[in-house]
Amino acid sequence: MILVTGALGQIGVDLVERLERMHGPENVIATDLRARQPKVGLNGRFDHLDVTDRDELDRILDAKKITTVYHLAGILSAKGEEKPDLCWRVNINGLKSVLSAAQKRGLKVFWPSSIAVFGHNTPRDDTPQSAVTDPSTMYGITKVMGELLCRYYAERYSVDIRSIRFPGIISYNAPPGGGTTDFAVDMFFQALESGTYECFVAPKTRLPMMYMDDAVKSVIDLMAAKSKHITVRTSYNVTAFSFSAEELVAVIRKYVSEFECTYRPDFRQEIADTWPRTIDDSTARRDWNWKPEFDLHAMARDMLENVSRAVGTPSPTSSVSRHK
Ligand SMILES: NC(=O)c1ccc[n+]([C@@H]2O[C@H](COP(=O)([O-])OP(=O)(O)OC[C@H]3O[C@@H](n4cnc5c(N)ncnc54)[C@H](O)[C@@H]3O)[C@@H](O)[C@H]2O)c1
Repeated sequence: MILVTGALGQIGVDLVERLERMHGPENVIATDLRARQPKVGLNGRFDHLDVTDRDELDRILDAKKITTVYHLAGILSAKGEEKPDLCWRVNINGLKSVLSAAQKRGLKVFWPSSIAVFGHNTPRDDTPQSAVTDPSTMYGITKVMGELLCRYYAERYSVDIRSIRFPGIISYNAPPGGGTTDFAVDMFFQALESGTYECFVAPKTRLPMMYMDDAVKSVIDLMAAKSKHITVRTSYNVTAFSFSAEELVAVIRKYVSEFECTYRPDFRQEIADTWPRTIDDSTARRDWNWKPEFDLHAMARDMLENVSRAVGTPSPTSSVSRHK
């Protein structure tokens, strides 16, 4: 039986859908602090769970006979700077509870880290797997601590914990939850809804990103890999492509020619400036055959088709193909 925490979030909604298809909806229990929203996905089993409440966590693990946990509940980078105490409580105490519960029950665990573990002294291009981690945000600090906790529980107690350092994730089913890469999602919605967007990072800001289909694929592939192939018990670098804000605008304008983007960098610019521009994910490729399927253009086409359906506008990708 599978438990997903933070299941109503950007990644949770898509990951739960995939897990339900793979294992059957009766074998997946989606949980979140928030109540289920009728508009956003998740049709299977759902329970309330606050991951900072250890008793509630233990109760649900035992009552539902859980064997695998996908621990997605967390506070993201921009929200974490606004609420650093909450960020620490949820990201560290929540993970520590999941790991210690996993140790007692022999559970297998997936937990996402982030490119936010990197910082000012990290090489920003082709950032290696073993690059120095010196984050300047509370979010990044909780992710570094989380990675070390994961390795500790794996080495000291043989907990089968697997982790990925996600880049910015682009998707359309559930809105992003307050991260520094949210502009890449917002831009698609605003391009189709209003035709204009005010971007909170500068045009040349380049960051590593990934389409949700590939993010979900990476989790499934990593969890399916044989334990003997997992050489990294902190967290694996993975990436799909990198682009600057102005490059994304140019790709969207191929389909939505009237789209206008202006730039007003805010505090998230400083965060982005400490993160890698591109990532070396060769260790994940070697250990568990990681390979993304979507490049920037395939992602943009698919996003425009799906966002246009979501907001009720004609698909700009079909009109471009018709005119060709
Ligand atoms: N989305 C990205 O671009 C990205 C990139 C790198 C890493 N990650 C990591 O992936 C994980 C999921 O990210 P996401 O984008 O889905 O985030 P999100 O903010 O969209 O969703 C997080 C979910 O956790 C829930 N939550 C918050 N506090 C909780 C608590 N105390 N108990 C239970 N649930 C709680 C929220 O209600 C929300 O539904 C996080 O650990 C995040 O750091 C995400």
